[in-house]
Amino acid sequence: MIAFFDSGLGGLSVWKTFQAQYPNYTTLYYADQQYIPYGSKTKEELIERAVKITDFFIENGASIIVVACNTATAAVIKSLRAQYNIPFVGMEPAVKPAALSSKTKAIGVLATEGTFSGELFKQTKEKFTKGVNVIVQPGYGMVELVEEGAAGTSKSLDVLTPLVTPMINENVDQIVLGCTHYPFLKEDIQKIVGEKVNLIDPAPAVVKQIKRLMPNVTNEEKVIHQFFTSSPDLVSFKAGVEKLIGNNNSVNYYTSSI
Ligand code: DGL
Repeated sequence: MIAFFDSGLGGLSVWKTFQAQYPNYTTLYYADQQYIPYGSKTKEELIERAVKITDFFIENGASIIVVACNTATAAVIKSLRAQYNIPFVGMEPAVKPAALSSKTKAIGVLATEGTFSGELFKQTKEKFTKGVNVIVQPGYGMVELVEEGAAGTSKSLDVLTPLVTPMINENVDQIVLGCTHYPFLKEDIQKIVGEKVNLIDPAPAVVKQIKRLMPNVTNEEKVIHQFFTSSPDLVSFKAGVEKLIGNNNSVNYYTSSI
């Protein structure tokens, strides 16, 4: 059983990619919506939440935990690995592939402030972007757009335009979607920046990493997916999930405040 968590619905971009490739695995998904956004939380606050969620996953039979959130990965994955025996898979801002593929030698990175201030981003940037102009931009308002179900609306274009226009002015040809919520805004971003700019969603690379760690499952009887939110509002949670992954009969919904 593969377990995923995020501050909210963003981790579904990773879940969706995983599920499309490996439909025979049962999954757990925990949306920590009562504590969203993670992007502005301290490391200590994020560790406290991650430990609670990890304990909850282990009690519920998880065999691999995917930290489907860039902000939480940067802040907590080291402590989790030191504390638990279960394997963890985290997100990495795809700065390396972006820098390697860039012909204009200019790339843009969208992520939360928490991700930008973490060591992981600083180290990755230093190591892989020599000679490349890296334009970083906190994705103000982007998490909210996805949580509200506003992807594909004019409001979304209004929020996104000032964030990505400076990148276009610097002639970027790659933009890293460094927060798991952002791939759900990919079409809107593409509309603004044009088809020539490549938008990088790290989910496929993360799914490859999950694959390396997971056991082979040949004959799962009935695949079920248990989706939890820490928010008391189950109706909005279910509606929000269905907007992003469609109506899936094997998903069961629960609230669970931990
Ligand atoms: N989805 C998260 C990430 O990948 C964080 C969003 C937030 O809660 O700020 O960074």
